[in-house]
Order: sequence, then C-alpha cells, then structure tokens
Amino acid sequence: MSDKTYDTLPDDFFFGAAMSGPQTEGMWQAHGKLENMWDLWSNEDIRAFHNRVGSYAGNDMGARYAEDFKILHELGLSSLRTSLQWSRLLDANGKLNREGADFYHRYLAAAKEEGIEVFVNLYHFDMPGYLFRRGGWESREVVEAYAQYARTAFEEFGQEVVHWFTFNEPIVEPEQRYEHGNWYPFVHDYQRARNVQYGISLAHALATGAFRELQAAGVVRPDAKIGLINCFTPPYTREDPTPADLEAVRMTDGIHNRWWLDLVTKGSLPTDVIDTLAERGITLPVRAGDKEILALGKVDWLGFNYYQPTRVQAPAQDTDEFGNPCFAEPYAWPHAVMNESRGWEIYPKGIYDFAMTMTRDYPDLEWFVSENGIGIEEHNATRDEDGCIEDASYRVPFVRDHLRWVARAIAEGAKCRGYHYWGVIDCWSWNNAYKNRYGFVEVNLQDNYNRHLKESADWLRRVASSHVIAEK
Ligand code: BG6
Repeated sequence: MSDKTYDTLPDDFFFGAAMSGPQTEGMWQAHGKLENMWDLWSNEDIRAFHNRVGSYAGNDMGARYAEDFKILHELGLSSLRTSLQWSRLLDANGKLNREGADFYHRYLAAAKEEGIEVFVNLYHFDMPGYLFRRGGWESREVVEAYAQYARTAFEEFGQEVVHWFTFNEPIVEPEQRYEHGNWYPFVHDYQRARNVQYGISLAHALATGAFRELQAAGVVRPDAKIGLINCFTPPYTREDPTPADLEAVRMTDGIHNRWWLDLVTKGSLPTDVIDTLAERGITLPVRAGDKEILALGKVDWLGFNYYQPTRVQAPAQDTDEFGNPCFAEPYAWPHAVMNESRGWEIYPKGIYDFAMTMTRDYPDLEWFVSENGIGIEEHNATRDEDGCIEDASYRVPFVRDHLRWVARAIAEGAKCRGYHYWGVIDCWSWNNAYKNRYGFVEVNLQDNYNRHLKESADWLRRVASSHVIAEK
C-alpha cells in the first residue's frame, strides 16, 4: 500500500449485508415452494454436502427475519441484498404463487421497520428443478420463463423495491455446472457452458427490457434502478508475461468480465471474444432478433463481488481431457497469501485494481462492492469464556484492508457507492454447507440456529456507524 493510509469513507457511502434466498430462507417446502436445483441435488445425493447439510434449512432466516433485521440494524447497517426465490414466487405453471409473494411482502415490511433497505436480486444459482429438466439455460422456453418471472416480480414489488438486480454472478453456473463439472449436473462441455452463458445473457436483457417498460408505465417506482452483480475479478498473470500469457489474460477477462460489462454498458457482446471462440469451433446459438434483445441489457449500475484475484497463464495444452479448448490455466503466484480454509488467495489490492479499471473504461457507471468476505472453517474457531467466537484477528484485517483500498479508489475518482459484506450472519454455503463461516454473527447449529455476535461484530458496528476504518 502507498505511504498514505486511506481510512475514511464518504458520508453517503452505504454499509450493508449480502446474502441470498436459497442460502438463508430455509422453509424449503413452505408457502407452496417448488424444488430448486439445490433441493434437487440435496435430495439426489446428500453426501455431496459438507456434513450432509443440504439446502433445506438455509440459515433459518425465513423464520427469523425480524430478529435478523434487528441485528443488522444494531450493527449499523442500512441495507441487505438478498434474492427472491423463483421457486417460491411462482407456481409450476409460471403464475404468481400468492403465499410465496405474501411471505416476501412480510419480509420487506419487516426490513423497512428496522430501517433496512432490501436490494432485490432475482436469481442466485437457483433455477426451479422443473425448468432445469426442460433444458435450463440452454432452452429458449426457460429464458422466456425467466423474463416472465422477472416481470411478475416487478409487477408485484415494483412499488416497494428500489434496487433490483437480474443475476448474481452469471458466470458461475456456466463454469461450475457445465464447464468444470463441480456442481450438478456435473458437465464438462465448453460449448454447452457458452450456450448457457448466452442464454443467461438473453434472460438478463429481456428482464431489463421488462423493467424499463414497467417503469415507463408507472408499475415500477420512478426512482428504482436495475443492475447486474458479477465477480468481475481482474485477471493477473506472471510478472514477465509471454504473448501467450497475455492472450490467456485477454480471453479470461473476455469471458469473465468484458462479456458482461459490454452487455450491460453497450447492449452487445465483445466481438474479439466471440471471434476467438469461433476460431476454436465454439459458436453461440444465435437466432434472428437476438441482437435487438441483447441491446435491452444496459443497466443503471453494477455490483462487484470480490473475494480473490484470478491469476492465469498460457495453457500447457490446447485441449483438455474432455476435448474442450483451453484458453488459460491457473498461475500460482509465489507471493500469494492464502485463506487455507477456502483455498482462496487474499489480495485486497484487487478491489482497487478493479475500481481503477472501471474508472478508466466505464467512467460514468456507478457500482458498489456487492460481496466481500472471509470464510474460515468453523472447527478452527476459538471461543472466549462466554462462548463468543474470537474471529477479530482474521476478519477485521481482511475487511479493513479491502475497505482501505476502496477508500483510496474513491479518493482517486472511483464511483463506488457502498459495501456489502457477504454473510454478515453465517449462511449456508452451497455444497460447503456450514464448513466455512463468513459471519460477524454466528449461527449455532448445535443451538437451534440461534444467533450470537462474534468478537468482530463490535468493529463492524464502529466502522459502519462512523465511516472511519478503524485499525482494530
Ligand atoms: C459468492 C456467491 O460467489 O461467494 C455466494 O455469490 C457464496 O453465494 C460466496 O456463498 C462465498 O462462497 P462460498 O462458496 O464459500 O459460499
């Protein structure tokens, strides 16, 4: 870091929490909720989930939201980004499920009472199972079903919600489900992964188009904004790169970042990326009229999820064992500091590098840090004599150092408006379940999911209330 320490954030900078519907709500069969992809996988193979904790309970927030909003308020936070669950809001005919909608109305009203603004995201890796069976994001019928779901949500909550997002990390499902085969349905097919990415892009654009239309008609509030959230992690390579290393950076950045950034700022996809894909035999399932659909995709602002940098180098092979083209492979930076629990590098300056790239390439676009956090294995945690988890030694420096880079970027012109910490209250983390804990607030599974402040909570409260990034 430079000599100067940047330790204050603007008065109008907001602090909040990020979570998602499927990772918090639980009540997986209440209010007529349908099975989503996580319920489907949990039911098929519960052994795939850490300690066999499947999707069913979330972190019990569906039952405890009033208590949780109070906790967030007491921590000095003013907003929470979560997601509606498609599988709760609509029925199997794609019509509004009144019981599910009423649950979300109660939820939003309770948040308002505690002074917490809910930022609503529409999709967090949680497609209803029946739509996955109909082809998921590879099917136009499903893309259109998503647009209809988004439209229904705007109609139902258009007067209540100001901040909307179409997708969280739309790059994750193509990669985790269809390219790397880590998540259900465990596919290793680069072509299908890009088809899925393209389907999600169309879905995003159709939803944004519906938002604009309904806002013009007065159904959505005039002050409402729509955005997209992604892990726009800047790719780095070795310090003395070859042209092939730089090419690996271009394609990684192209698929992960510029694909979405072009979509949401220009309403199109980056031609250099599409051309390189075509040279390797990967063509997108483009239909007549798609160009006009993608053109609807421009947003009002962005969310940037940041945990770790991406480091890549030229691939050793042209194709992998499944016959898929390789454009890059991981580069192990010798100076990397790791969070061993999660296997992710800790590199706070990455947040600044992203900020300055945005300031240079998209100077008018506002954004906020929509996720950032550190998940540490629960069994490593120590407790004081009152049973409070002693996490300040790692959680405070992590957040503090990232915030200081944010403060510096703002001082240098970045349009970063706020910061949401991921999982302020411990959440269920997909197939890692409760292995790694992100929270400033513990969810104790041995104690009926009761909430307990961790040691670091006091630091968060002081920083969020004063906007001064305290050392400890
Ligand atoms: C983000 C996701 O990528 O990372 C969250 O939006 C997720 O849903 C978070 O929980 C932390 O990752 P993980 O895998 O440790 O839960």
